Amino acid sequence: MFEDLREYAKENKVPIIRDEGLDFLLSSISKHNVKTCLEVGTAIGYSAIRMASLGVYVTTLERDQNAYDQAIKNIKNYNLENKIEPVLIDALEYTPSKKYDLIFIDAAKAQNKKFFLRFTPFLNDLGIVIVDNLNFHGLTNENPEDIKSKNLRSLVKKINEFKEWLKLQENFNTTFTDSGDGMSISIKL
Ligand SMILES: C[S@@+](CC[C@H](N)C(=O)[O-])C[C@H]1O[C@@H](n2cnc3c(N)ncnc32)[C@H](O)[C@@H]1O
Repeated sequence: MFEDLREYAKENKVPIIRDEGLDFLLSSISKHNVKTCLEVGTAIGYSAIRMASLGVYVTTLERDQNAYDQAIKNIKNYNLENKIEPVLIDALEYTPSKKYDLIFIDAAKAQNKKFFLRFTPFLNDLGIVIVDNLNFHGLTNENPEDIKSKNLRSLVKKINEFKEWLKLQENFNTTFTDSGDGMSISIKL
């Protein structure tokens, strides 16, 4: 199960959640009794399909038409049309119509703070926010001067600023894990 999706992602160089990160995401879903999720960043639908296979209702946002089309196909193949609502949109233009138990942020890494601010008003009490790729392939722990590309340096700086900002949010209790590519989990207080 799911091997076809991982293979497709590998062959087509689509970034999807790493195995260890997925374990963290799915175990957090069980631990916090998550029934509904708003996912920012569908790609080919892999993480949405994995969450929905646990019984979670997922609304997932994607701005890229090709990725969205592929996600639709995959969701159909896994018979999960009644559990996953894919939306083709730039997440920064999307306003949810209901509240969720989990907000999973896995889209443009420089926009994490904007996504967090936009979507946390739509989090249920005791809800959680999980953000992926906070180690960004280990680069966030490097000396910024050692990162040659200017764009990459600026992205890594933004991710590190986001982590510091997240720690200061008093309405959330945030912890970080090195699972997968580095993730945060913020519990709404
Ligand atoms: C890392 S991939 C998502 C992987 C997916 N969550 C998984 O693990 O299977 C990030 C996706 O977010 C999409 N994305 C980036 N910025 C976005 C935005 N502002 N709105 C909607 N989608 C966005 C990209 O097109 C890309 O497909």
